[in-house]
Amino acid sequence: MKTIIEAQGLTKVYPGGIVAVDNVSFSVNEGEIFGFLGPNGAGKSTTIAMLTTLISPTKGTATINGIDITKHAYQARLELGFVSQDLAVEDALSGNDNLRLQAGFYHIPRAEALVRIAEVLKMVDLTARAKDKAETYSGGMRKRLDIACGLIHRPRILFLDEPTLGLDIQTRREIWKYINTLREEIKMTIFLTTHYMDEADSLCDRVAIIDRGVIKTLDTPMALKDALKNEIEQPTLDDVFLHHTGKEMREDYSTKEAAFKSRMIMRRARG
Ligand SMILES: Nc1ncnc2c1ncn2[C@@H]1O[C@H](COP(=O)(O)OP(=O)(O)OP(=O)(O)O)[C@@H](O)[C@H]1O
Ligand SMILES: [Mg+2]
Repeated sequence: MKTIIEAQGLTKVYPGGIVAVDNVSFSVNEGEIFGFLGPNGAGKSTTIAMLTTLISPTKGTATINGIDITKHAYQARLELGFVSQDLAVEDALSGNDNLRLQAGFYHIPRAEALVRIAEVLKMVDLTARAKDKAETYSGGMRKRLDIACGLIHRPRILFLDEPTLGLDIQTRREIWKYINTLREEIKMTIFLTTHYMDEADSLCDRVAIIDRGVIKTLDTPMALKDALKNEIEQPTLDDVFLHHTGKEMREDYSTKEAAFKSRMIMRRARG
C-alpha cells in the first residue's frame, strides 16, 4: 500500500499564541477515504490549510505524493484539489464559466479545458445545467459544482472540508455517492472533514479524531467502535467521538463566532 499523505509533527501557532494544531503526525494511503473528525475549533481546517499549502506550518512538515509541502509548495499543489468549507462558486457565472475560470487558474489550454469541463460536469451530474447561472442552483448542486472545480486539474488527492454541512439528508447522500464514485472510478484519495458521524462511518476507510489540535485516536470506524464494546452495548461512532473528546458534536456552537459562521455557511449552502 502506497502512502500518499505523510504528516510529521505538523504544528500551527496563530498570531496571539493560539496553538491550533499541535504536533500532529499521520499517514494516508493511496485510494483511501480518510476522515478527519473533531469539534468546532479542533484544528481540522487549519490542518487542511497546511496540507494544501495555503498556510505554512509553524513546525513540522508533510509530503503529498512524496513532495515536501514546505520546500516545494507549487509542485505539491498540482497533486491536490481543495474544496473549502465555504462555498466558492461565483453565483453570477454559469457552471461552465465557473469551471473555465478554475481551468484558467491552472493554465490549462483552452481545448483541453473544454474536454475536462465536460468530464467533471458529467462526474457530478451537472451537464444539463452547465449553461445556467450558479445562482439558480440548489445548495446541493452548488456543492457539486464546487467539487467539480476542485477536480478540473485532475488531482490525485481531493481535500473536502465539510462537503455536506447544512445540506439535507437526501443531498448529503447524493454527495456521498459522488465521493464514492471518485474513489472507485478514478482511484482518487479523499481527505474529508465532517461533523456527521453517520457520514464518517459509512464513507471513510479510516478516521482520525482531533481535539484541541491533538489527534486522540486513528483507526477504521469498525475498530474504533469495537474498542468500546466492553463499556457500551453496540457502540456507534458518536459514542467513539464522545469517548475521545468528552463532548457531543455541538449544534449549539460554543462561540458566537462559530455560530455565526455556521449560519452563514448554511444560508449560502441553502441558497
Ligand atoms: N486565521 C486565524 N487566526 C487566528 N486563529 C485562528 C485562525 N484560524 C483558526 N484559528 C483558531 O484555530 C483553532 C482551530 O481552528 P480551525 O478552523 O482549524 O478548526 P476546525 O476544526 O476546522 O473547526 P470547525 O469545525 O468550526 O470548522 C481555533 O481556535 C480557531 O479559533
Ligand atoms: Mg473547519
